[in-house]
Amino acid sequence: MMLQIFRTKHITSHDETDNSLKRCLSAWDLAFLGIGAIIGTGIFVLTGVAAATQSGPAVILSFVLAGLACAFAALSYAELSSSVGGCGSAYGYSYVAFGEILAFIIGWDLLLEYSLSVATVANGWSGYFNNALTAIGIPLPEMLTKAPKLGGLINLPATVIILILMLLLIMGVKHSAKVNNAMVFVKLLTITVFIAIAVFNVNPDNWHPFMPFGWYQSLPDGKTSGVLAGASIVFFAYVGFDAVSTAAEEANNPQHDLPFGIVTSLAFCTFIYILVSGLLTGVVHYTDLNVSSPVAHALNLLGYNWASALISTGVIAGLTTVMLVLYYGLTRIILAMSRDGLLSPFFSEVNPKTQTPVRAIVLCGIIMAAIAGFIPLGDLAELVNIGTLAAFVLVCLGVIVLRITKPDMNRPFRSPFSPLFPVLGMLSCGALMAFLPSLTWLRFIVWLTIGLIVYFSYSMRHSKLANSN
Ligand code: ALA
Repeated sequence: MMLQIFRTKHITSHDETDNSLKRCLSAWDLAFLGIGAIIGTGIFVLTGVAAATQSGPAVILSFVLAGLACAFAALSYAELSSSVGGCGSAYGYSYVAFGEILAFIIGWDLLLEYSLSVATVANGWSGYFNNALTAIGIPLPEMLTKAPKLGGLINLPATVIILILMLLLIMGVKHSAKVNNAMVFVKLLTITVFIAIAVFNVNPDNWHPFMPFGWYQSLPDGKTSGVLAGASIVFFAYVGFDAVSTAAEEANNPQHDLPFGIVTSLAFCTFIYILVSGLLTGVVHYTDLNVSSPVAHALNLLGYNWASALISTGVIAGLTTVMLVLYYGLTRIILAMSRDGLLSPFFSEVNPKTQTPVRAIVLCGIIMAAIAGFIPLGDLAELVNIGTLAAFVLVCLGVIVLRITKPDMNRPFRSPFSPLFPVLGMLSCGALMAFLPSLTWLRFIVWLTIGLIVYFSYSMRHSKLANSN
């Protein structure tokens, strides 16, 4: 019985199964899905906080370092997504590379990553949305914009936006991809406007001192600062490119399109982040950036109030796409785990009319809407980072393990310089985990412990793999 939990799954081809989802996403749809999930709170909100409190103008280095760690991981994701198959992302790859128990843990970890990201981003979205309503003279009563712990009744906009996305995802993935593409266009337009204005307003004096907090310091209150600590915070800005790999079953030509979508979206966003963070700290002093909307704030300080309003529109669109794609990824991981018997089979059903996993979508929607509406999420973004980084470490390790155990596997995309790049991916992602505060580690361990209880009390006995032998 004990050995069963280490049993690995065979490579699933990208073929259809009984409960198949509809193949309708092109390579560019996937790249836009990636950009949709990536650019959001990280660049529009966290850049300012990280610059003001952790990295100073060297936040640009934080972005470079976090981007590098993600690049190594993305190449590993690209290799496994082209060769292993299945829609479960890091969960599915771990099942083939390491066996059931590690796969379950990583799947459980991804549930945390994706659901908390959506609920956290919904809180940020709600803030921007309320500002926009206030600006046009129809503010919501305060009771309806805050969780009970913050003195309100419910964060209604955060709840409602998740329920709207739930309906969109139920309607079908092609619909969702179209809405995503349109909103990605809006957010890229606003970023272009910012870059066009900022380029002509840089004051190089703002870049001095460049690294006021040094590389790394551990503060007495358990928090951390410096460029490396900043990197582990702005890492949140890159979360989401992995969601592309959850679309394996809906991609027209997964072996080619998934690596393209993953690598293209990450490369593009890294370029944008380096440009925007460099310009942001060049147009205003980093000490002025500790606000909830640093990009819009910088434009206000420069006197471009119209552009500041435009940025807010872009942020609302941008954060919507982040939630949409991560929510989508979450449901696909639940679907994969449920099909394998590790979560209840109730969630495996794909609605024949919409060809979407309606039950998984509704369950996730209701839970996340409740979390976003009633719980203030504060610093939980760091928990998303640690979970995502853990998944990245395992995906890089998976590439190494599978090159040894399954050398003849068909690999339409190969991570270059293996095992060097995957090893660098593991080291850099592991280092970013190490720079996170101890409280984040504690919360992460609690979540994984709950997962192990679920695994040993339910999943192990219902596993299809175990029962097929
Ligand atoms: N990368 C996404 C964001 O920054 C999660 O909002």
